[in-house]
Amino acid sequence: MNNQKDKIIFVKEEMEILICHYPFWETLNPKLHLLIKQFPDEYKKSTNVKAKMTHYCVINEDFMKIGRWVHQKLPDILPHGLHSTSKFRLSDIWGALYNENDYTVSHRHRPLSFSFVYFVNAPKNSAPLIFDFSKQKIQAEPGKCVIFPSWLSHSVPKNKCKERSVIAGNFSFVPEILPFSF
Ligand SMILES: [Fe+2]
Repeated sequence: MNNQKDKIIFVKEEMEILICHYPFWETLNPKLHLLIKQFPDEYKKSTNVKAKMTHYCVINEDFMKIGRWVHQKLPDILPHGLHSTSKFRLSDIWGALYNENDYTVSHRHRPLSFSFVYFVNAPKNSAPLIFDFSKQKIQAEPGKCVIFPSWLSHSVPKNKCKERSVIAGNFSFVPEILPFSF
């Protein structure tokens, strides 16, 4: 009998991050920014996001324009041969508003598949998005979207302006057919 204990070890891996730009950001972003400002602060900085945050599941047609567009972008980050976006479902989508000194602690979105951050409003001195392990810094820029594997650690350092806003969300993988049951 093997008495060795289970253990977790750490490995380094190279992961793809997709940076893309929503073509209609100039008309949509002012509406999204206003919505993020108007929605109530649901969590009062009790999550990883130490900034004003909407509910995790915003049901709003303008938010869904971003959700649907990101969904269509997923093939650009998927491995070759896994190009059916129909297998991915938007699990949640929310907004966040960062004022001076707001930030987000390092975290991951396990066990989801793909996550995104869409920059809505990014005044001068807006904090970047940082992938913690690689130290890769993504500068905030209105209309820019970052799509990444949900297991990557990321954070936002202290913001240095008023009203930096983002929309973020997650996609989960849903197999069309389960060939077995537990
Ligand atoms: Fe996050």
